[in-house]
Amino acid sequence: MEGINFNQIGVSFKGSGSYVPDQILTNPKISQKVDTSNEWIKSRTGISERRISSIGDNVTEMGYAAALSAIEMAHWDIKTIDLIILATSTPNDLFGSAPSVQAKLGAFNAVAFDLTAACSGFLFALITASQFLKGGSFKRAIVIGADQLSSFVDWNDRRSCILFGDGAGALAIEATNEFDNFIGFDMRTDGGRGSFLNLPSKNNKDSIIDDIDFLSGGFSSIQMNGQEVYKFAVKEVPIILEKLLKKMKYNSDQVDWLLLHQANQRILDSVGERLKIPREKILSNLEKYGNTSAATIPLMMDEAVRDYRIKQNDIIATSGFGAGLSWGAALIKWG
Ligand code: UT7
Repeated sequence: MEGINFNQIGVSFKGSGSYVPDQILTNPKISQKVDTSNEWIKSRTGISERRISSIGDNVTEMGYAAALSAIEMAHWDIKTIDLIILATSTPNDLFGSAPSVQAKLGAFNAVAFDLTAACSGFLFALITASQFLKGGSFKRAIVIGADQLSSFVDWNDRRSCILFGDGAGALAIEATNEFDNFIGFDMRTDGGRGSFLNLPSKNNKDSIIDDIDFLSGGFSSIQMNGQEVYKFAVKEVPIILEKLLKKMKYNSDQVDWLLLHQANQRILDSVGERLKIPREKILSNLEKYGNTSAATIPLMMDEAVRDYRIKQNDIIATSGFGAGLSWGAALIKWG
């Protein structure tokens, strides 16, 4: 796709979409598999159930469904899309799943690529896409967050398996030369703390021929130090959001919605308290879906746009955080 340059100065939010698989795994059902209970999961995380992909619900299919519904809301001709970024840590093709989403959509004029930053992935992808739009290279972008962590969860590890679910969300964003609804952002990583949450490769030594070895590819399951990730989130997320608000000269009482990565209700409440944002302004749907990794933010946003909680010109402070460790924040105005 060639650069276009429209003297663009800003970004406008035109549509949202989401998709979750049909299979529902409730807390009582998980309690039949590992030593846990509905009460423990509910009180420690806020999660009641999560969706689990079945055959046919891979990241390409989920991302496609979410993207299509965002495009429909935006009333875009699919041929006018310039850029598709798919944030995922669980592509169904390790070489990248975004081009197959592009092909399924028939977005033949777009360039499509994957971006991996775990639970911060959607936010990092949104920031990346917005820079292409503001820089004048592209006019219309679809940003997707889709993950299928159920394939990488150790379903015998009660400390982590209760948290995760599958799903996808997408936003349709457009460059404009009239205003800028992408107010500001910040993003951080700290690989030094990466071991708190990771999904490492698992290679088995094998032999190609005679004395030439190779390592067969594969991955182990999610490894998580829950307490450390919890401490990281409740410390760093308020700091990055506070700094961003200050930099953009916003007070927390000007924020209509706090939209955090849906990891744990206690994290959401703690960040809200630190920022003095009342509970009714904190968007949460993790009770129904758990932590869907890169999908949580657009999945929540789509729900709140479609049920008219998020209205035109509402100010949304959003933050993604997770493996890497990585975290980021953005301040946006809907519409
Ligand atoms: O995108 C980021 C993804 N990761 C996260 O967001 C993780 C953030 N961390 C958390 O959400 C919380 O740390 C957890 C929900 C994972 C755990 O909650 P916690 O309050 O930090 O529990 P804990 O690890 O301190 O464990 C307390 C107790 C332990 O038992 P003992 O040692 O006190 O006897 C655990 O063995 O709870 C036990 N436990 C469980 N009991 C019943 C741990 N998991 C379970 C479980 N059911 N599923």
